[in-house]
Amino acid sequence: MTKGIFKEFSLKNLNLKNRVIMAPMCMYMAENDGMVNDFHYVHYMNRVIGGVSAIILEATAVEPRGRITDKDLGIWDEKHIEGLKKVVEGIKKYGAYVGIQLGHAGRKCSIENETIIGPSAIAFSDEYKEPVEMTKNEMEEVKVAFREGARRALEAGFDFIEIHGAHGYLLSEFLSPLSNKREDEYGGSLENRTRFIVEVIKEVKKVWPEDKALALRVSAKDYVEGGNTKVEMAKIIDIVKKEGIDLVNVSTGAVVSDVIINAYPGYQVPEAEYIKENCNIPVIAGGLITTGDQGTEIIENNRADLIFLGRVLLRDPYWVLNEAKKRNIKLDYLPSAYERGI
Ligand SMILES: Cc1cc2nc3c(=O)[nH]c(=O)nc-3n(C[C@H](O)[C@H](O)[C@H](O)COP(=O)(O)O)c2cc1C
Repeated sequence: MTKGIFKEFSLKNLNLKNRVIMAPMCMYMAENDGMVNDFHYVHYMNRVIGGVSAIILEATAVEPRGRITDKDLGIWDEKHIEGLKKVVEGIKKYGAYVGIQLGHAGRKCSIENETIIGPSAIAFSDEYKEPVEMTKNEMEEVKVAFREGARRALEAGFDFIEIHGAHGYLLSEFLSPLSNKREDEYGGSLENRTRFIVEVIKEVKKVWPEDKALALRVSAKDYVEGGNTKVEMAKIIDIVKKEGIDLVNVSTGAVVSDVIINAYPGYQVPEAEYIKENCNIPVIAGGLITTGDQGTEIIENNRADLIFLGRVLLRDPYWVLNEAKKRNIKLDYLPSAYERGI
């Protein structure tokens, strides 16, 4: 039987035991301080004991105004390191790797008393405040915040970083012509819209070691006429690849409001496949993947290097164990008693 999602995969410092990655998912369970608490520890430990090969921690804000809500995790202060370190050490005990998604909500920050920023002064929807169009000074501040976030992530022991460039948050807002209407060198052409994220990556690379993987999550399709498609995103990936992005986590949408997405199993895989093929870079694909056979089809047909699982892992932390049992595959990286469950 083909090993499919149970094949190993290596990239830089990552020697993954299988192809299944836990997708970043905001839990909104911090207490208005960005701090990790028991909930986060239990939540992530359950999934790692469930057999995923890597976990990408939820979007974690590099500055307070970069939070989506006041319950987001944060990494804007030294005080955040200790709690993150505990989660990292727990995950690593089980032979899995752990990354952190460094994020900035941009115009999608919904916190009442924060000033919100974006590439242009256009609100996401009627329910959101109008952001302030970022000055060059503010862009500098955000770049430093990403760099400092990366430095703290290193100190906390993370194996990799994923920069959040998807779903209409700040970096994604710069990339899309639907949310970026700037008239300076950061708006207009595709190269100009990519400039800010390139500068953020350069800052992160100042502190993030060359031998550790650096991933980027993108929305490879805006679902609106005039927005980005996989074709534009592949051109963007070609640019950021030169800056040291090693892996692309391909998502879609959430860049503008009121868009109805026809989501079906594997609906975002064609975007991942296109980027893998055209940019010659490893990709993570996903979106409504719920069965091992779906994952096997993607991996064995070389449409993606890794798959991410989101919602299915919320209802079944032991998805990987269950899929291993169906195939009678022994997993030697779990607590030994768990092997008896397979
Ligand atoms: C509760 C929840 C929180 C999420 N938070 C994030 C996030 O922090 N960062 C991100 O890039 N995507 C986030 N997503 C999107 C998921 O990573 C994933 O792309 C999406 O759920 C589709 O995959 P699925 O069909 O396997 O759930 C979130 C999704 C859910 C359900």
